[in-house]
Amino acid sequence: MKPPQTSSAHVLIFPCPAQGHVNSMLNLAQLLALRHLHVTFLNTEHTHNRLTRFADIESLLARYPTLRFKTIPDGLPEEHPRSGERAAEPLLSLKVHGKPLLRDILVKEKVTCLVADGLFAKLANDMAEEVGVATIHFRTIGASCFWTYFWAPYLFQSNELPVTGEEDMDRIISTIPGMENLLRCRDLPSFCRPNRAKGEPIIPLETIVSETHQTLRARAVIFNTFDDLESPALFHLRLRFPTIFTVGPLHLHRACRAPTATNTKTSNNSMREEDTSCMAWLDSQPLRSVIYVSFGSITTMTRESLLEFWYGLVNSKMRFLWVVRSDMITAGEGKDESVPAELVEGTKERGLMVGWVPQVEVLAHKSVGAFMTHCGWNSTIESVVAGVPMVCWPYFADQQVNSRLVSDSWKVGLDMKDVCDRNVVENMVNDVMVNRKEEFLQSAEKLAILARKNVSEGGPSYDNLDRLIEFIELISQ
Ligand code: UDX
Repeated sequence: MKPPQTSSAHVLIFPCPAQGHVNSMLNLAQLLALRHLHVTFLNTEHTHNRLTRFADIESLLARYPTLRFKTIPDGLPEEHPRSGERAAEPLLSLKVHGKPLLRDILVKEKVTCLVADGLFAKLANDMAEEVGVATIHFRTIGASCFWTYFWAPYLFQSNELPVTGEEDMDRIISTIPGMENLLRCRDLPSFCRPNRAKGEPIIPLETIVSETHQTLRARAVIFNTFDDLESPALFHLRLRFPTIFTVGPLHLHRACRAPTATNTKTSNNSMREEDTSCMAWLDSQPLRSVIYVSFGSITTMTRESLLEFWYGLVNSKMRFLWVVRSDMITAGEGKDESVPAELVEGTKERGLMVGWVPQVEVLAHKSVGAFMTHCGWNSTIESVVAGVPMVCWPYFADQQVNSRLVSDSWKVGLDMKDVCDRNVVENMVNDVMVNRKEEFLQSAEKLAILARKNVSEGGPSYDNLDRLIEFIELISQ
């Protein structure tokens, strides 16, 4: 189907103000603008300041004449950390302060379709309904986790929830349709746990579940996934949500449809300064010899945990590239602040630690052999696209589910959840990089081929994007 040359639709895209959300929703914005839809991307002022500093917003605007940005305050003081345990506060604040601002923008800008982050589901539904604008939800998590959130109330009804304590964590959850016997209690989203990880942003399970069920009120839901990756969950979701658009992996989809986007800064939609020196370092390493280590934009850990990873990596004798964000370490129990000499030596010899990298490019580099990841959905799907096996150390939210998919459904890596021990790190790194390398690589390469097929002409994600654009045109009339 030929795309329309101009469109009367005006789409407002409203992401939760966090890297993993802005990132994938901005990829969608570009894909819509590429097809001449008028798109306004609504950021908080804080997020937008970071994006304009570290991503190349100017060239993005030059490339897409129908794309523009608008900002609103998040209602928090400038000095608020917006990270760690308090990372969810901008979202919570927006749910209150954002209401009149969103309503105003919908009306004044003559928006015809609101594509809202599903974390704002109720706010978006209420405001859009009030002013008569059609709403579509976008979920930055995978379909399997969304389905698990949706199913959580039924887990209480069947007495599979609550999780009673540590001794209960290996119990199998058997009644999630399509995911029967896949998850143990420890693989459920972290919001189902009786105890939270240190420093984890606090969001009650009830809030997550009720926002998920709000998506029943939306006209459609968009996922940054592809049908071959999550077919069991998608099959069951489609029985409840008749209009689902799987258009992912979005970063690959965008790169395929807009292949001139070669500028690294723009292509990553990064909200932090990228240390690109790591690319030259990677260039000088042998083929598939490096384990790339990163725990995303929100994860925090104690100094003790950091040292366990460090020892594990150094003792594995593998080369490693490790992203250690300046806001990653939380206060731990340890009194000794000095770094053991063998770690410094081991790092000098085989490792590189940096503050933030162009992750998609790093994963695509020929010297990267595996990814030690927290399994944020973006990181997971970026690794899938690159065909890179994973060692998973999930932190919170959907990551517990994602890491189970990696290890037990897709079989493209190992899951070390709930353990932070130097011996386990060493052994798993060696298993993925050496002992079981071929097995994991083969499965990872198969998935990567499927990902590419899905966003290529005639593939389901490719076709779904066309259908999504037609749908937006239709509901905008
Ligand atoms: C969070 C959740 O963890 C995630 O599951 C949810 O779907 C979105 O919000 P985050 O924890 O930051 O996000 O993880 P992730 O989803 O993996 O997103 C991190 C993004 O930052 C990825 O796109 C990754 O490419 C990028 N990144 C990370 C960099 O560009 N450079 C880095 O050095 C590290």
